Amino acid sequence: MLLQENVPLSPLTTFKIGGPARFYVEARTTSDVQDAVSLARSRDLPLFVLGGGSNLLISDAGWPGLVLKTAISGIEQCSGHDEEGKVLFDVGAGESWDRFVSHAVIARCAGVECLSGIPGSVGGTPVQNVGAYGQEVSETIESVEVFDLKEGQVREVCREACGFSYRTSIFNTTERGRFIILRVTYALEPGGEPHLEYADLKRHFEGRETTPNLAETREAVRHIRALKGMLIVPGEADCQSAGSFFKNPVLSEAQHLELIKHAKIRGLTVPSYPALETHKKVSAAWLVERSGFVKGHGFGHVGISSKHALAIVNRGGASAAEVIALKEQIQTRVEEIWGVRLEPEPVMVGF
Ligand code: EPU
Repeated sequence: MLLQENVPLSPLTTFKIGGPARFYVEARTTSDVQDAVSLARSRDLPLFVLGGGSNLLISDAGWPGLVLKTAISGIEQCSGHDEEGKVLFDVGAGESWDRFVSHAVIARCAGVECLSGIPGSVGGTPVQNVGAYGQEVSETIESVEVFDLKEGQVREVCREACGFSYRTSIFNTTERGRFIILRVTYALEPGGEPHLEYADLKRHFEGRETTPNLAETREAVRHIRALKGMLIVPGEADCQSAGSFFKNPVLSEAQHLELIKHAKIRGLTVPSYPALETHKKVSAAWLVERSGFVKGHGFGHVGISSKHALAIVNRGGASAAEVIALKEQIQTRVEEIWGVRLEPEPVMVGF
């Protein structure tokens, strides 16, 4: 394992923003991870675990301690089935997420096809319970193998213990910083049908007489994501981002009624969907757009994606400070007009 110094982190992120890592190592095995942890401890260095870099905003100062990049690879299909007839795939945290989705689709296993085209690595998926187009990884994750920094040992965390909810899990809430994800096991349905519930997907296949297969669903999702600037296409300006910059706010019934009232005065209807048992999830993109931050709007080096109001984009040479300034402007404006506080979705590192 090679210990490097002053390694620029911006190229390792989709945002292409952020300062250097004081120290940097790439861990290809569990024992590399253990060695890196011992090194950080012996030198008293704060540790940051970097995955695919697709949901991060790294500060301009960078990271003052050790960045551990998880590069554990491998997609293994376990032999046989579980009690529900599902096939288990054991995947290294450093694998590209989309490579795994492609692998599952080719193997005709259903459960992750709607999560096609999402950038980042496998290890990041349980952390924020990655979801799109009607699927979330919480539905297919069987267990997560972790290195437990508190107990100093490798452990298995089963799905129930992951505490999954919308964009959250124990890994980014109650147990944040405790575990380093090493491998993730997904349970997929062999020969299963694609999940075609999300409005955009239904629209895409409208008028078709035969049911689309998994491969066609994967292509459709990638196509829809590309139209929204949410597919990484090298050289495409709108994809220098961290995807959705804000979470869709989950409101209580009273808060939702208040928002509807605000919208009614303006003759508008807020897009909202049922969430939890009694709550409503409302579209953050809609709120951003209707607060004056329209698609394609530039604010110097940063701007709003020309294809989706929820993505803040680096238009070239942006600093983290500029992103934060725009984030704050958006939060303030949305709160003034709509009475709703938007929460950022990417992880902020080194602030
Ligand atoms: N909308 C706008 N303006 C826009 C875009 C969308 O008003 O510029 C409104 C429309 O009414 C639209 C609604 O927002 O119907 C929902 O838009 P979309 O289907 O694009 O979904 P989203 O809520 O904006 C979420 C996820 C995405 C995921 C898509 C598709 C969050 C924070 N974002 O976006 O995830 O790909 O659904 O399932 O939950 C990510 O987390 O980085 C991400 C890209």
